[in-house]
Parts: sequence; C-alpha cells; structure tokens
Amino acid sequence: MNSTLHWDSYWQGSISLNSFGEGEAAQGYTGELLTFWNSCFMQLPKNATVVDVGTGNGAIAVAARKYSDNQQLNYTIHGTDAAKISPLQVFAANPQLTAILKTIEFYPECRTEKLPFADATADLVTSQFAFEYAERETALAECIRILKPAGYFTAIMHHADSEIARDSAAGLAVLTAFLKDTSFFQHARTLLTSMAEQARRPDKPALAQQTQRANQTLLSLSQQIKLQVPAESLHWYNDVMARVAKLILHFSAAGLVQLDAEQQGLSLFWQRLSDQKQASLSAAGAEQFRQSLTAAGYAFELTEIKIENQLFGWLLQIQK
Ligand SMILES: C[S@@+](CC[C@H](N)C(=O)[O-])C[C@H]1O[C@@H](n2cnc3c(N)ncnc32)[C@H](O)[C@@H]1O
Repeated sequence: MNSTLHWDSYWQGSISLNSFGEGEAAQGYTGELLTFWNSCFMQLPKNATVVDVGTGNGAIAVAARKYSDNQQLNYTIHGTDAAKISPLQVFAANPQLTAILKTIEFYPECRTEKLPFADATADLVTSQFAFEYAERETALAECIRILKPAGYFTAIMHHADSEIARDSAAGLAVLTAFLKDTSFFQHARTLLTSMAEQARRPDKPALAQQTQRANQTLLSLSQQIKLQVPAESLHWYNDVMARVAKLILHFSAAGLVQLDAEQQGLSLFWQRLSDQKQASLSAAGAEQFRQSLTAAGYAFELTEIKIENQLFGWLLQIQK
C-alpha cells in the first residue's frame, strides 16, 4: 500500500469507530464479536499494555479501555495505523467517546511492519481485519517482537469465503464496471456540461437536442452495466446510480464539481475494497500461511471464526 489516502479519508470522514459498521454498530463492535475480544482482555494482568495494530478510529482500543475501566485494570492502550488517523478530531462532538479516546495513545502513519515500541513491552497485540493488509511476515515478526514473553498476538483476519468478502467482491465488480471498464463518469460529465450550456442558452434548440442525446447515451450505458450485475449485487448498482441521478434530476451549477467528488469518493472506496480482497485469505492461502508459521517456529492456532453463526474470518492466536 503506497498511498493511504483511501483510508485517511475514510477514517477522517466517516464518524464511525470501526470499519464494517453502519448505524449503531459504527459506535464500536458489539454482540459476539465484542464478547470474543473481551474474552481476550480477560486473560490480561492488571496494568497490562495492549497494542491494537491497524486500529482505524480505534474500535478495539476503545473496547479494551471499556473492559479495563469496568474491571479496574488500568491498562495502557496504544492504537497504530498506517493511515492519517485522528479519532479525537473525528469525535470531538462526542464528549463521552472523547473522554475514552483521550486515554488511548494513537499513532497515525505507523505501519505494522515497523512499530514504535521497544522489544517485549506489550502483553497483548490485537488486530481486527488489519494486520493482514500489511506485508504479512514482516508485520507479524514486528508484533511478536514487541510482545513480552508468553504475551499474545490475537488477530481476526479476512476470510475469502466470508459474507463480508462475498459482498465486497460484488461491490468491487460493480464499481469496476462504473469506474474502470466503461466511460460512465465521462458520459455523466458530458450530460451535466450540456445541461449547463442549455441552462445558459435556453433559446438554442440545438443545445436541448444535444442534452437529449447525452442523456440517451448515459441511459443506455447504465442499462448495459445493469445487465452484467447479478440480482444480489443490485444494491451496489443502485447506490452508484442514485448518486449520479440526484445530480441530474436536481441539476445545479455545482453539479460538475459534485460529480467529480462522487467519482473520487467511489474510487477511494474501490481502492479499499481492492486492499481488502488482496488481504483476504482463502483456505489454500491459510494452509500456506500455516506452513510459514510452523517454519518460523511460532506456537500458533489458525482457525475459522464464526460470528452470529456466520463465517466471519480467520482467527490467528500466537503465544510468544
Ligand atoms: C479494514 S480496516 C480495519 C480497522 C480497524 N481495525 C477496525 O476494525 O475498524 C484496515 C486498516 O488497516 C490499515 N492498514 C493497512 N495497511 C497497513 C499497514 N501496513 N500498517 C498499518 N496499518 C495498515 C488501514 O489504514 C486501515 O485502517
């Protein structure tokens, strides 16, 4: 991952503690997943140090703090991420969350491959859909380096067969059709430009015809794209269409600038989904990874993990 712009913008603009969360879930992980992480915190001694790598806006770090406060365990908690994260700024309007975030030390622009902590200083290193985005072997060695003897590295990694991966792959295919395989946004731009010209010169019928032609071209292109989209992925298609249709139906002078912003936002989303796909581990990939872990001499367990009865990811646990 060379540029982190796609993650910088996500964390700075989403007002969500975690990725893969909408609505209430965006205020941090809940349910069985939270229960799982709490069961990991439960193993820790008083005054333990926890490092959450690829923390994003800090969902796991916040869960650790809440557990520590409830049990009066006084953990020291760090959250690192390659992206330019700034959870305190994002949640400035939320005093409760701000009070918690202030007790966590965040390290933006900090890659898991090179962590700013001394050897053998952490009791637990956590990763929720994060460490696998890094160069895996280097990042893992780094996480183990900072663990105290008998400390734990616990990671939930993306599984290529999970529902999250399936839906993301569907989204990636739809976004690829709109952004890469066709000139959909170029045609949308042509239409909005023509509408602007028509609005300036309503006396010129040729401009009205030009707009009509541009509209037809865009419509038939969107129909072509739709034909390639399986029924279960239509929500992705509808989402993109709604963003563009709103700019056409409620045409304004700012339409072209807004179209550029929509295209840019979707391109960043495309990049995040691509990262995720690349980070996901298939069963064969997990087997290969197992072999490399064995060869490196780690005491580990790598198993599938289900959440709410659905395949959710791979659970990797290593004790130093
Ligand atoms: C799917 S998000 C998960 C964030 C968070 N753990 C959560 O559950 O909400 C993946 C995160 O990994 C970060 N990331 C990607 N490559 C990284 C690397 N080499 N080192 C550290 N963080 C990285 C991204 O910036 C992003 O914030």
